[in-house]
Amino acid sequence: MSSIQTIQVHTAPAYEVSIGGGLLHTCGQRLREVLAPCRVAVITDSTVAPLYLKTVTGSLEGAGFTVCSYTFPAGEGSKNFTTLAAILEFLAEQRLTRTDCVAALGGGVTGDMAGFAAACYLRGIRCVQLPTTLLSAVDSSVGGKTAIDLAAGKNLAGAFLQPTAVLCDTDCLRSLPAEVFADGAAEAIKTGVLDDESLFALFEDGTLTAAPEEVIARCIRYKAGVVERDEKEQGERKLLNLGHTVGHAIEKCSGYAIPHGHAVAAGLAIIARSAEALGWTEDPIAARIAACLAKNGLPTGSEYSAETLAEAALADKKRSGGDITLVIPKKIGVCELKKVPVADLLPIIRAGLEG
Ligand code: GLY
Repeated sequence: MSSIQTIQVHTAPAYEVSIGGGLLHTCGQRLREVLAPCRVAVITDSTVAPLYLKTVTGSLEGAGFTVCSYTFPAGEGSKNFTTLAAILEFLAEQRLTRTDCVAALGGGVTGDMAGFAAACYLRGIRCVQLPTTLLSAVDSSVGGKTAIDLAAGKNLAGAFLQPTAVLCDTDCLRSLPAEVFADGAAEAIKTGVLDDESLFALFEDGTLTAAPEEVIARCIRYKAGVVERDEKEQGERKLLNLGHTVGHAIEKCSGYAIPHGHAVAAGLAIIARSAEALGWTEDPIAARIAACLAKNGLPTGSEYSAETLAEAALADKKRSGGDITLVIPKKIGVCELKKVPVADLLPIIRAGLEG
């Protein structure tokens, strides 16, 4: 077994993120370090269940947990009230109590929705995150954001629930289809643009030269620091939404056919071009960001018009009254928050589509 890295997230309560190979095989034993024997409801999707569900339930049962599982159809299209209600009814049928636990086994959709079910059920039970995609490993499994989508937009109903533990088994990444790996690369490239030029540079030739463990650990270390300082996204945490205002709009306009990381990549390229065109950057970065995204199989623009994207974006949570907060890249490794009137969003997006 490869060595396991651990990162502490000092929220209240605090928790540990473990990163390395073989963690699904040993998840029962590892979770016994933070959980007394209890019922664990493993929530997963139809793609992940045939790959890892048996391993996880076997390991949990071997460590003394009583296990049940619920599998929903894979895809962002499932991240809605109907599936959430079915999961909540399942937890009730299985008689989970406040001392029991949900385990989210899968990618971002599973982590968000199982986490939200745990946050709602009995007004909140514990949840452990077992991410199986690069996207959920580098971003969504850590930080406690949970949600489902509404017709009006992505992640519009949700709660903050910090996980009790995150076990990121990097062996799962080996079997990811290229498009799914690229989805996670988009969030890692985003982290590079936010904070770490050398992380960004790892992606620039299009063949990841570092081990995924290193990329995940660097992304999570950065994210953990941000979340510790601003758990409920009152300020600094908004930076993590780089590329997401336009990205969420693209996802919504596509009926969620465009995956999250691909939409964020396009959103990142667009906001970088806007920032440069409007004189908000310190270095010329837009072409470098677009080239890096393209090398990793990610889009750098959108077929939707600026009008369509602006309208979709204005339903987003990032709006507050008459203003919207955008994350503006200044140079690779440095970004800032900029509050702009909602009326300015259309010309800003237009500048990014035209550049
Ligand atoms: N994915 C952005 C955040 O967790 O704040």
